[in-house]
Amino acid sequence: MVILNLDKVCKVYGKEEGKVEGLNNIDLEIKKGEFIAIIGPSGSGKTTLLNILGTLDFPSSGQYLINGESVEEFNKCNLAKKRNKYFGFIVQNFALIKEYTVYENIEIPLNYANIKTRDRKAKIKNVLERLGLSDKVNKTPKELSGGQCQRVAIARAIINDPDIILADEPTGALDKDTAEQILELLRELNEDGKTIIMVTHNLDITRYCNRIIKLEYGKIVETI
Ligand SMILES: Nc1ncnc2c1ncn2[C@@H]1O[C@H](COP(=O)(O)OP(=O)(O)OP(=O)(O)O)[C@@H](O)[C@H]1O
Ligand SMILES: [Mg+2]
Repeated sequence: MVILNLDKVCKVYGKEEGKVEGLNNIDLEIKKGEFIAIIGPSGSGKTTLLNILGTLDFPSSGQYLINGESVEEFNKCNLAKKRNKYFGFIVQNFALIKEYTVYENIEIPLNYANIKTRDRKAKIKNVLERLGLSDKVNKTPKELSGGQCQRVAIARAIINDPDIILADEPTGALDKDTAEQILELLRELNEDGKTIIMVTHNLDITRYCNRIIKLEYGKIVETI
């Protein structure tokens, strides 16, 4: 089942001489349950593609359908809700709020989702156990290692049980063993039926992916 469909999507930044083509004529169908890696040199459009897939940014032209529904049709007031329902985001530098505890960081997406306090607590407890973070619940990010921070970021990305996880270099800031653990977590989530789309520079970590998409100058130049 196709859940995400890009049809001739272009993204242009800036105007006239300053114009940059972030993405150029991208056609891409993503099926439920796929584990996809996006690779390519710096500036090739990987983050731009991920942002458009996650509705954090929008095409300059072309069409993007989520479950057959055009993102242009999503009106502004339900965009955040839809985004939150469909997508979990994992970014390279974790993007945790440093004054917040682990608990509070993981709770953020639930604030959009209208969930009772008691259910929130149960959900958070559950995800903390799953990611081996139960003893860190009241710590702040600076009291954690890089791998632990990345696990908090993953906990936050999956707390709402999204269908699709978008990860921008999820292992980029981690040592090899910690990167392996994070990759293993993503593989488990994929086995649970989540669709995973991961940007990476590291070909080593693409071994669980069932498709590798290579970008250059905003175009798909190879699919492996
Ligand atoms: N907000 C923006 N305004 C103007 N140009 C942008 C903006 N975001 C990205 N670009 C340009 O679009 C192109 C693609 O950028 P993008 O961030 O998608 O690359 P990337 O493949 O993720 O690179 P990296 O591996 O370095 O993260 C680059 O030329 C970049 O300079
Ligand atoms: Mg990038």
